[in-house]
Amino acid sequence: ELPKTFNGPIDLGIIGGTGLYQLDCLEAIAVLPPVKTPWGQTSSPITISKITGDSEEHFHVAFISRHGLHHQFSPSTVPFRANMAALKHLRCKAVLSFSAVGSLQQQIKPRDFVLPQQIIDRTKGVRDSSYFNDIGLVAHVGFGEPFSKSFAEYISKFHGILENPGVDEPCELHFDIDTTVVCMEGPQFSTRAESKMYRMLGGDVINMSVLPEAKLARECELPYQMVCMSTDYDAWRDEAEPVTVETVIGNLQNNGANANALASAIITDMANKMPEFMKTGDGLKGSIKMSISTKPA
Ligand code: ADE
Repeated sequence: ELPKTFNGPIDLGIIGGTGLYQLDCLEAIAVLPPVKTPWGQTSSPITISKITGDSEEHFHVAFISRHGLHHQFSPSTVPFRANMAALKHLRCKAVLSFSAVGSLQQQIKPRDFVLPQQIIDRTKGVRDSSYFNDIGLVAHVGFGEPFSKSFAEYISKFHGILENPGVDEPCELHFDIDTTVVCMEGPQFSTRAESKMYRMLGGDVINMSVLPEAKLARECELPYQMVCMSTDYDAWRDEAEPVTVETVIGNLQNNGANANALASAIITDMANKMPEFMKTGDGLKGSIKMSISTKPA
């Protein structure tokens, strides 16, 4: 039975998506029951871990499962604000998130990973996407670069993990300028026409979860990067069958194993030498103070 509390600061927060529920390189040292926040309860308990075998416990990771341990939250009902607030409260220095995505580009094959740099919002306004709507303050944070460039560059150094010749089908980690993730509301997948439209708009991959997660991380001044794990070609290819949940699930297991290997390499490296963007806050410290446009009463 693990303790239900943890007091020290956490180094890295991880939000696991569909198909990624725990990480091999970590050893749990506490499990916080779903955390109550002013924005509701987190979608899952939060597992606090150290690196397996690290007796000094000098690096700590907090892991939340975005859709809940039983996948009970749809993308439209995930308590995004509670999840990010809990990671902030635990004093995470950065947030690494994972999400299954559909591919809108031929060269992004199912099972490839993508580090997006840009987002197109196609959610329908039903998600609470700010901490500032309901507390009498107006804040406009900068979101022109919705992810952390330094974090993405850091992750991209580990691309070799996915190209491991030991696996029968080597995968790629795509990291190009302005790679764009489209975030749709769901829960239904896109029509063929919509899928083609997203390609015309410049979309490279599509999911239902990057928003408002990325916006809330920015409001929390947390460096944030999503690793998108491709499961399908969505619906844009005329000659092929549009995406089905069977296709998605079929590729999830392989993606989970690769995500585990990638995250383990990242965490081990971070624990060895904390990257600059985590030490300095990636230029985000104090940004919220400058974004609030309400005058003090
Ligand atoms: N998640 C995984 N595949 C997807 C797709 N094709 N569209 C939206 N979200 C997805």
